[in-house]
Amino acid sequence: MNATLVMPTQSENHNADTKIKKTINSMIDELMASLPELSSLTSAERHGIIARYSAVLEGNFIYWMTATLLAVKSEEARPILLENLHEEVRDAHPAMLRRFALAAHAYPTDTEMLAMHEDVTKMRLFLGRLSGVQSLAAMAFFEGFIQKFMAYLAALAAAEGSTEMEYTDVHGVCDIEHTDGLFRALALESVVNPLDPKEDILEGATLLRNTMKSAIFGPVVVLTA
Ligand SMILES: [Fe+2]
Repeated sequence: MNATLVMPTQSENHNADTKIKKTINSMIDELMASLPELSSLTSAERHGIIARYSAVLEGNFIYWMTATLLAVKSEEARPILLENLHEEVRDAHPAMLRRFALAAHAYPTDTEMLAMHEDVTKMRLFLGRLSGVQSLAAMAFFEGFIQKFMAYLAALAAAEGSTEMEYTDVHGVCDIEHTDGLFRALALESVVNPLDPKEDILEGATLLRNTMKSAIFGPVVVLTA
């Protein structure tokens, strides 16, 4: 029996890359469109969103980007992630975020940390599987969402009387380039280390979308009888 290995052509790869980028961008746009009207929020609700967002991002962003770097097999994709991590560490982005939350009097307490516990744990376990393509798709979603979310986050802090906006100013700009880089890395990794077609490429992106939903709306409480 003759077995023929059918490799995807360059244009088939390109079409798949364009499709996944479109899908991730529409997940971001849907989440942005679902944000509560700023004027409808109470001070406690604004506080909750900033604190839960900080509870997820401050201690996890660099961890998750590092996990993605460890997962990636494409030599060409690695420098894109390293550049991103370099900037995070060199400019101390977690310190920037902490200043932002403190200035808005919304630094997370155990209430917000625990509210995000399940989502954060799911993400950690997912990234621990070190699946390059899925991890890159998740981080592309994350960077893209963060960049678009910054104006809203800044408005929440301003309504809480804060003028400390370095975190939101920096991420509203630098993440445009980071998101493009991650989509490029995703395309490179898909060639070198393709995902098993039985797997869901959006598994991590969906988990992160759900994590951001919990940060914005509060975690979903499942009532059992
Ligand atoms: Fe950052």
